[in-house]
Amino acid sequence: MRIAVPAETQGAETRVAATPETVRKFIGLGAEVAVEKGAGLAAGINDADYVAAGATVTKTAKEALKGAAIVLKVRRPAESEIAGLPAGALVIGIMDPYGNEAALEALSKANVAAFAMEFMPRITRAQVMDVLSSQANLAGYRAVVDGAAEYGRALPMMMTAAGTVPAARIFIMGVGVAGLQAIATARRMGAIVTATDVRPATKEQVESLGAKFLAVEDDEFKQAQTAGGYAKEMSKEYQAKQAELTASHIAKQDIVITTALIPGRPAPKLISAAMVESMKPGSVIVDLAVERGGNCELAKPGEVAVTPNGVKIVGHLNVPGRLAATSSALYAKNLFAFVETLIDKTSKSLAVNWDDELVKATALTRDGAVIHPNFAAKPVVAPAPVAEGSVQNG
Ligand code: NAI
Repeated sequence: MRIAVPAETQGAETRVAATPETVRKFIGLGAEVAVEKGAGLAAGINDADYVAAGATVTKTAKEALKGAAIVLKVRRPAESEIAGLPAGALVIGIMDPYGNEAALEALSKANVAAFAMEFMPRITRAQVMDVLSSQANLAGYRAVVDGAAEYGRALPMMMTAAGTVPAARIFIMGVGVAGLQAIATARRMGAIVTATDVRPATKEQVESLGAKFLAVEDDEFKQAQTAGGYAKEMSKEYQAKQAELTASHIAKQDIVITTALIPGRPAPKLISAAMVESMKPGSVIVDLAVERGGNCELAKPGEVAVTPNGVKIVGHLNVPGRLAATSSALYAKNLFAFVETLIDKTSKSLAVNWDDELVKATALTRDGAVIHPNFAAKPVVAPAPVAEGSVQNG
C-alpha cells in the first residue's frame, strides 16, 4: 500500500500534508510512503528528514504518484495534476468544493475517490481529524501576532524609568475556534481584551479567558446558535443594533481582529468604512474572514492596506500557511487519524467502510461519479399530474 505526498502546486501554499512523524506512523501501519522532492521545504522539512523517517523521496510528482493507493494533499489537486492521479486512489485534502463543481467532475472522471477533510463531522470521535479547528486555532494566534507586528506600539503595560506604556486595547469579533485563540494570545501578550459574538454560549467562554464580553443580548441573540453549534445569519434589525453597539467601542480600540463566519454564506460585514474612519491613526484591523468576503468593508484580500487616516487593514490569505511548520504538523496528524480508519491493520491494506459516517460525510467522488449529497446530480423527477379542479398547496 503506497501513500504519495506530492508537493503542493499552488504558489501560495506553504503547508505539506505529511511530516516525518506521520510518515513513521504510516510505515508502522505497513504502508510505504513516497514524498516528492522539496514538498516540505516551505514548512521547514528537508527531504533528508523524510528519508530518515523511512520515506522514499522522488524527483517528480509523477514518480511519487505511481501505483499510489492514497494521495495526501493540503489543497485540492489543480487541473494540471488531476490527469496524473492513479485511477482508484483515495485523494484526501481540503477540497474547497463549493463553487468548484467542475473540478469535482474532473476528479470523478479521473476515477479517484476524493475526500474533503473540511467536511469531517464535529463529533467526539472525529475531533482529532478536525482540520477546520486545527487550522483556525493557529490562524487566531497568528492574527494577533500579525496585528502586533503592524502596530507601532507595545501590547503590554510597561512601567519604565522613561515613562509608562499603556496596555493596548484589542477587540475580537467572532469567538469561534480562531477568536478564542486570539483572545488567549492577546491576553498572554498583555493586552486589554474585549470580544463579541452572536452566539450566547460564547459569553461564558470569553469571560473564562479573562476578557470582557460585549453583545446585543436580545431575544434573537438567544436563538442565534444552530443545533450544529454555528451562527445563523442575523436579521437586518439585529445587525443595525450590533453596529450601533460596536461602533463607539471600535473607535477606542488599538487592534481589532475579525473572525466572524456563517456556514454557506458570505462573511457578515461588521466594520463599515465609517467605523474605520473613526479609529485612531496607527490602529490595526486584522480581517481573518477576508477569503470569504471579509468582515471589514475595506479589507483587501492578500494586502495590508493603509487608509488615509492611517489605519492598517491586514487581509493576509492562507493565514495558517504563515505558520507552515506548525500548521503542517497538526494538519498531517489530522490526516493520519482519518487515514488510519481506512486501513485494515491485520492485512495492512486499504479497507474503506463506505457506510462509516466519517467516510459518508467527506467522500465527494467514487467510481467515476460525484457521490456527496450536496453535489451529486439530483435525479430529475417529473411532476405528478394534477387532477383538474384540485388545489395545489405550496
Ligand atoms: P465559524 O468559523 O463558523 O465562525 C466564527 C465565529 O463567528 C462563530 O463563533 C460565529 O458565532 C461568529 N459570528 C457569526 N456571525 C457573527 C456576527 N454577525 N457577529 C459576531 N460574530 C459572528 O465558527 P467555528 O470556529 O468553526 O466554531 C463554530 C462552533 O463549532 C463553535 O460552537 C465551536 O465551539 C464548535 N466546535 C465544535 C467542535 C467539536 O465539537 N468537535 C470542534 C470545533 C468547533
